[in-house]
Amino acid sequence: MNDLMSFGLHKSWKEKLISLIDVEDQSYVLDLASGSGDLTVLLKNRVDCNCLIYDSNIKMLQKAKKKVKNAQIICGYAEKLPFKKESFDYVMVAFGLRNFSDLDQSLREVWRVLKKNGFFLCLEFSEINNFFIRDLFNLYGKIIPRYAGFFLNQRMAYNYLIESIKQFPNQAELSGKLKRHRYSNIKVIDIIDGLASIHIAQKK
Ligand SMILES: C[S@@+](CC[C@H](N)C(=O)[O-])C[C@H]1O[C@@H](n2cnc3c(N)ncnc32)[C@H](O)[C@@H]1O
Repeated sequence: MNDLMSFGLHKSWKEKLISLIDVEDQSYVLDLASGSGDLTVLLKNRVDCNCLIYDSNIKMLQKAKKKVKNAQIICGYAEKLPFKKESFDYVMVAFGLRNFSDLDQSLREVWRVLKKNGFFLCLEFSEINNFFIRDLFNLYGKIIPRYAGFFLNQRMAYNYLIESIKQFPNQAELSGKLKRHRYSNIKVIDIIDGLASIHIAQKK
């Protein structure tokens, strides 16, 4: 789905997120809503730090186990993280936040498990601020579920994907949310005029 919705570009966007992490081999990093662990693979190619892969879907974690060497893997929900407060230097999440059933509670949990001065980094589909690209994407969003329904019998899943992108807070709204949840030094990096964006926020 990520491949489809990002035109295959999500891998380079994930590399961008990883390039923003100033990690050392003693750092503790949580890959939240890890899926099959793409972010951890990219990070560990740079530095063999302490990574914890965490997702609510056991099947995704089984895929992660095959892909990632030397990382702890835990199954659970973002809304209730089974970690002590101030456990991680970084919490990173790619295309996960949009799927959480309680975004506010998840942001509270991330804040709790971050160490002081630790960073939260989030890559997510966002609000496109270029009219031309927005129209193109809207058109694409109408075609995808039909295509998926016809060829894959998966129309519902793709409808959800398009709808979840529309419903998700835009860059300013997500920044506001982070601020209300006590995060500091919030920065936003738009990718392709906001088709996706990376939010970086610090726990001070
Ligand atoms: C679109 S995938 C992204 C996976 C991966 N981060 C990537 O970019 O390839 C979204 C992931 O979020 C997980 N997820 C959804 N809701 C969750 C929750 N409440 N807590 C933890 N993980 C969740 C799903 O199981 C799924 O693996």
